[in-house]
Amino acid sequence: VTLVVKVGGSIRNLDPVLHDVAASPHAIVLVHGASRELNDLSTSLGHEPRMVESVRGDVSRYTDSLTMDHFLMAYAGKANKRIVERLRSLGVNAVGLTGLDGGIVQGRRRADLRVRENGRIKVLHDNHVGSIECVDMKLLNMLLQGGYTPVLTPPIAAEDGTAINADGDKVAAAVAVALGASHLIILSDAPGLLRDGDDASSLIEQIDVSALNGLEKNIGGRARTKLRAAVDARRHGVGAVVIADGRVEAPLSAALDGAGTRLV
Ligand SMILES: Nc1ncnc2c1ncn2[C@@H]1O[C@H](COP(=O)(O)OP(=O)(O)OP(=O)(O)O)[C@@H](O)[C@H]1O
Ligand SMILES: [Mg+2]
Repeated sequence: VTLVVKVGGSIRNLDPVLHDVAASPHAIVLVHGASRELNDLSTSLGHEPRMVESVRGDVSRYTDSLTMDHFLMAYAGKANKRIVERLRSLGVNAVGLTGLDGGIVQGRRRADLRVRENGRIKVLHDNHVGSIECVDMKLLNMLLQGGYTPVLTPPIAAEDGTAINADGDKVAAAVAVALGASHLIILSDAPGLLRDGDDASSLIEQIDVSALNGLEKNIGGRARTKLRAAVDARRHGVGAVVIADGRVEAPLSAALDGAGTRLV
């Protein structure tokens, strides 16, 4: 049994999840984001975050090279090392890594992005963002075999080796598939995937990946990425895929016991 657990940067208090990880008898690869942390950092450094909507309706962060510097500070720096620090103090032999390290996650940069802004379509250049092409499991397998718990975060490596932003949920899904993980558990600050993002009681308990029935179109913004990553992992053979709440007590155990949204 090997679990890939994605903890969202949206979760303010990671202690419940990290306690649960420390108590788990299973091998775990922990993947995390730091989106809120990065927004706070960029704002305090006077470089306001810029979220843009693609012509397909997907929301992402415009990542110019200064934003990538801040990205590295927030994701690979503070967020990653605070998680490693906490896990190690809980007795877990954690090692912090980005997708760049050892070439774990490789992708393809898409420097130009067509966006819709104020009803107009324009093209943004110099975007350090891309899609995931492949995962090299060599380093992660070495670490797992040595009893380490990898703590992995974006960015990933573009074809020329430079750092590009890729969504943490997608990284977690790609790693789960490459690892042949038994479970992918995606935790964030919502009870699971909601029919209506503003209504916490509208939890979708189960999603049949063979009959999505246009669900993607109705799930907006950043949650759509979560849905896509989860569907992708399930379709590529990850046995159990769950999107659940990271803020409750023992969130990992709860997700394994059926809380949140299960993909079947
Ligand atoms: N239909 C929906 N179902 C669930 N969450 C939704 C929905 N619509 C919007 N959301 C919002 O999506 C957010 C989760 O996505 P977001 O990317 O912001 O966080 P994350 O993935 O946990 O963090 P990070 O990207 O830093 O890892 C939640 O805060 C939630 O409020
Ligand atoms: Mg996210």
